[in-house]
Amino acid sequence: MTTPPRPSPIYDQYAIAEIQRAAATGIYDIRGGGTKRRMPHFDDLIFLGASMSRYPLEGYRERCGTDVVLGARHAKKPITLKIPITIAGMSFGALSGQAKEALGRGATIAGTSTTTGDGGMTEEERGHSQTLVYQYLPSRYGMNPRDLRRCDAIEIVIGQGAKPGGGGMLLGQKITERVAGMRNLPAGIDQRSACRHPDWTGPDDLEIKIEELREITDWQKPIYVKVGASRPYYDVALAVKAGADVVVVDGMQGGTAATQDVFIENVGLPTLAAIRPAVRALQELGMHRKVQLIVSGGIRNGADVAKALALGADAVSIGTAALIALGDNSPALEDEYRKLGTTAGAYDDWHEGRDPAGITTQDPELARRLDPILGGRRIANFLSVLTMEAQAIARACGKSHLHNLEPEDMVSLTMEAAAMTQIPLAGTNWYPGKPGA
Ligand SMILES: Cc1cc2nc3c(=O)[nH]c(=O)nc-3n(C[C@H](O)[C@H](O)[C@H](O)COP(=O)(O)O)c2cc1C
Repeated sequence: MTTPPRPSPIYDQYAIAEIQRAAATGIYDIRGGGTKRRMPHFDDLIFLGASMSRYPLEGYRERCGTDVVLGARHAKKPITLKIPITIAGMSFGALSGQAKEALGRGATIAGTSTTTGDGGMTEEERGHSQTLVYQYLPSRYGMNPRDLRRCDAIEIVIGQGAKPGGGGMLLGQKITERVAGMRNLPAGIDQRSACRHPDWTGPDDLEIKIEELREITDWQKPIYVKVGASRPYYDVALAVKAGADVVVVDGMQGGTAATQDVFIENVGLPTLAAIRPAVRALQELGMHRKVQLIVSGGIRNGADVAKALALGADAVSIGTAALIALGDNSPALEDEYRKLGTTAGAYDDWHEGRDPAGITTQDPELARRLDPILGGRRIANFLSVLTMEAQAIARACGKSHLHNLEPEDMVSLTMEAAAMTQIPLAGTNWYPGKPGA
């Protein structure tokens, strides 16, 4: 008898291939997307539903509200969205103009907001987005005061979940004349965005910045502060102290257009672990539900939406799932993915600009493949399904509004999830670290 070949779980095929690739090229691996390894996530929580001790609502007859108001703390014009699911900031440059337009169209049909990104605001998205959040980023690429006044809210980006502490990348092949013009950069040259704002060194400067932005916009627009999940308890508290109307916490599973693989997989805090500390910071400051919390990073379906809200978020934001809804990684493009050395479901070379779906590209021929009107409808359909799924779960838990979902509606499937969320392990009333347990 012979022993079957035994691959190592440590030196698995990916680890071996990466060592070989690194040795052959001498450069680190860059890719798009979020974490690919298994880590604690929303799948590790489930809802209990209702039976005797809880009373469910009737699916097709009893209302389950979905609206959310963002930014009422200080802004004269807070934002009201029909659904608590927004489109996350994704840069023009990373995405084609057609993709930005489709996101705006879809968000508008669904009654929600979309967000600009590194590189500034395009006419396509401003023109087709009823509610547009304008990102104010460390790089300041594409930033101008006129656009600050044309948006509906401002999001100061401190960091992103995929790379807290890291800056962005846009490789030369995607820097066309138009992208370069908007960023005041030469075309065709690799660009690296700053990892921190040029004019501040800490949270006190954030307070000054927020006031400056409020003055420019006559205190009309809500000001969001976006942080990559890292130390959410302290970061959320500091953002609230600095005057934020809304705080966005983007977990480690969050997507990026282009970052080092080693960064994506090894830096940050899983989304699941970031929500409770963020909520606790708001609660301790008496600001929960007054300063809204938006959570992002790995939201794929209505259950994820419902779980984030039950943990205390006011809304969620989606990036990667929106791109997939637009057609990214579609099996219909399998032949083209094969030519790029990958397969549908695994395509992540978004930085290369050769996306056969026409989404993460600046190649005019490829970009033309994406019909923004059809794309907008797909986004609207997807947002509608996410909402209906979350409502189905909320009704089963007896809730007449998605915001009435609460931690008590769920149990944890793993010890890790229980420890991270303080939601008891299924079948027990215990979680690791429970006081007195
Ligand atoms: C293609 C792409 C481009 C992105 N560009 C930006 C950006 O310009 N600014 C930013 O704050 N975040 C950016 N992000 C991160 C998203 O705003 C968001 O935090 C993340 O996608 C949420 O996680 P999800 O992709 O799992 O939904 C980008 C993400 C993707 C996928």
